[in-house]
Amino acid sequence: DSPLLVDRFGRVATDLRVSLTDRCNLRCTYCMPAEGLDWLPKSEVLSNDELTRLIRIAVTRLGVTNIRFTGGEPLLRRGLDEVIAATAALDPRPRISMTTNGIGLSRRAASLAEAGLDRINVSLDTVDSARFETITRRDRLADVIAGMAAARDAGLSPVKVNTVLMRGVNADEAVGLLRFCLDNGYELRFIEQMPLDAQHGWDRGSMVTATEILDSLRTAFRLTSEPVARGGAPAERWLVDGGPAVVGIIASVTRPFCAACDRTRLTADGQLRNCLFSRTETDLRAPLRAGADDEAIADLWRSTMWAKAAGHGINDAGFEQPDRPMSAIGG
Ligand code: GTP
Ligand code: 5AD
Ligand code: SF4
Repeated sequence: DSPLLVDRFGRVATDLRVSLTDRCNLRCTYCMPAEGLDWLPKSEVLSNDELTRLIRIAVTRLGVTNIRFTGGEPLLRRGLDEVIAATAALDPRPRISMTTNGIGLSRRAASLAEAGLDRINVSLDTVDSARFETITRRDRLADVIAGMAAARDAGLSPVKVNTVLMRGVNADEAVGLLRFCLDNGYELRFIEQMPLDAQHGWDRGSMVTATEILDSLRTAFRLTSEPVARGGAPAERWLVDGGPAVVGIIASVTRPFCAACDRTRLTADGQLRNCLFSRTETDLRAPLRAGADDEAIADLWRSTMWAKAAGHGINDAGFEQPDRPMSAIGG
């Protein structure tokens, strides 16, 4: 009986992604409809104390070494700085990161770093403000750009940028986005679009593939594979023009990396998922609220991870999207 989060395939989950809220202040067309979604009622969302307890169990009993806060939009979570500070106070101290859309980050980066946040990933699909408004349905490009600079200046490094390219929308911007990131010292990663949108509108044909992305980047840059192993990281990275700058591609669909997966996930309402695409969840909130002790919760966590599937199955016949959209799982 291993104390760690191992599965039947020998993978060990050391990276916990914690969704802090399912709400968001943008409405990216590939994620949710203009009117938003039916948000979780407050009573179902874990309190900061409940959340902190689960993170402590993961770190002190289950061998988790990396905590990433996600959303929805994690900056909307009240008490975020306190949750980060409580996580940073754990022994052993985990590495702490966050994935955000960057809105409001310019005012908050310094205090987040002070609380213990180590680094940050910001979502940005275009550097054209009209196009930003078309994609996100909000006119906030300037805020995001200012937020990324503030994060860099606060020492939240490396600042990584996540871009989803979409055919007919921003697929022509790969080179421009990489120039922008190189100029500003950010690490850009392109993400293949996955079937996780609330509207269930994903189709393989409109997904821009890793091969296409490399082809367009190579019209302007010399790319060579990086000699460094990627480990369990989703992004494969290439050196740009001899390095040290790199560009990454997260090719979840055409080059799945599930065999090296090191992730476990917790939703804002206290449901444990062993995969982004898992068909089932384990409720931790009910036992937590019923007074279960730490070891009982740790055991539920271990058995949930043991049952993890070999892979996401996106490329298999009969694949079905998970019931919850990306914004409620945390990506
Ligand atoms: P780093 O540690 O900075 O590399 O973070 P990350 O890339 O793991 O996390 P981030 O939140 O920035 O996610 C970037 C993209 O990778 C998003 O589209 C995520 O949904 C996707 N992603 C993250 N983890 C997984 C995973 O375990 N499986 C799959 N298929 N996609 C993932
Ligand atoms: N497929 C891939 N990436 C997605 N993101 C949002 N929806 C999808 C999807 N369906 C990206 C966001 C953000 C990151 C957490 O995931 O743009 O950068
Ligand atoms: Fe891990 Fe599931 Fe993502 Fe594959 S799809 S890498 S198994 S979380």
